[in-house]
Amino acid sequence: MILEVKPSCRLNGRVGVPGDKSISHRAALLGAIGQGVTRIDGFLESEDCLATLHCLSLLGTPIKRLAPGSYEIQGLGWDGFQEPTDVLNCGNSGTTMRLLIGVLASQPIFSVLTGDASLRDRPMGRVIEPLRKMEARIFGRGGDTRAPLAVLGSGNLKGKTHRLPVASAQVKSALLLAGLRAKGVTVVTEPGRSRNHTELMLQQMGVPVRVDGLTAAVEGGTLPKGGEITVPGDISSAAYLMVAAAVLPDSDITVENVGINSTRAGIIEVLQSMGADLEIEPLLGGGEPRANIRVRTSPLRGIEIGGSIVPTLIDELPVIAVAAAFAQGTTIVKDAAELRVKECDRIAAVAQELGRLGVDIEERADGWVIRGGKNFSGGRARGWGDHRIVMALAVFGLGVKSPVEIADAEAVSISFPEFVTTLRKLGAEVEEKGSDLQDTQAV
Ligand code: S3P
Repeated sequence: MILEVKPSCRLNGRVGVPGDKSISHRAALLGAIGQGVTRIDGFLESEDCLATLHCLSLLGTPIKRLAPGSYEIQGLGWDGFQEPTDVLNCGNSGTTMRLLIGVLASQPIFSVLTGDASLRDRPMGRVIEPLRKMEARIFGRGGDTRAPLAVLGSGNLKGKTHRLPVASAQVKSALLLAGLRAKGVTVVTEPGRSRNHTELMLQQMGVPVRVDGLTAAVEGGTLPKGGEITVPGDISSAAYLMVAAAVLPDSDITVENVGINSTRAGIIEVLQSMGADLEIEPLLGGGEPRANIRVRTSPLRGIEIGGSIVPTLIDELPVIAVAAAFAQGTTIVKDAAELRVKECDRIAAVAQELGRLGVDIEERADGWVIRGGKNFSGGRARGWGDHRIVMALAVFGLGVKSPVEIADAEAVSISFPEFVTTLRKLGAEVEEKGSDLQDTQAV
């Protein structure tokens, strides 16, 4: 699919964004391993999260869809998981695969996990290695580092103390989930603070999790109890709209009901430091903190982004690079080498595609140097089959002088299926066109 984005001058209105992807995955997984029924509202019905539901149902979880985004999950409890009769296909979803490995390592069943070409190329050793210290039996391609993976689960895992080399919520969560059924205490210390949705949801579901700075610990023996989980809107999806409204002249938008957990909200701090005009109206209610976010156009300036803020905005960096292209002055993004092992090598993808569209961007090992502030003309770009690259390029296209065509763009359905309709609702001109074949070749 090709996305054609026409220059648009003002975005206006109030919109919601779909449910948070990370929280949706966790709600389904914790509901399935828990006891009793979990009711989820605001679940993100995108390809990634549907892959999690699909895998869970192959493992025997009764899942009922009550209405769009509303589900009832019957927890399987200690020994309810069935050995799947087929391979568990995690699609494009790293969160599905990594968190499921942690769950399956401690279930006395055999399972095989795979995914699409991108996921099969992503590093899984970072989860497998520490799980093996807990006596998990997991095997895979490339010396047990790549999917397809075989998990020979066991009810006899041992709690261990882990020090992660990189801040990763997926790795931390996999270890904590395995720790729920392990003997003793599982302790995970990260070098930086990654998103903490697993710790918060476990606590909400009655599992004691000790959190001290960069360390989280669980003791085996308590399963989550079912209850009600309301998923807030995804700040990672809101980020595209926020950047678009900040850079397009005369814009004034409000994105409603966005999750603003501090381990995810780095985009707010960065846009404010760049000079964006943001108004955060906190919302009352249970679960994770939420707010309506109003964004009005204002001139942006380049800044330096690095260090401990990076894990709190890691998925937003491609669209932050777009904001930097429209800002006056130089933006330096560093300490973000993790971007190279996401759904694609996002450092290379952003540098090549924005560079192709005329942005002065220099690729570094762990980020970019972007000299912004020019007027850009449009052109053709490629989405690299990566939802965040496609949407970042679309935001770029809204702000330039002639249309931008993005080939390889169907990936938006991975996390934000309503992206195009939401942009249109705000006044943008975006069109989905034809097949990719000839255009991918032309790019
Ligand atoms: C996620 C964690 C992050 C993020 C990913 C979702 C999660 O990855 O990039 O999109 O839901 O835990 P890492 O854990 O690899 O940092």
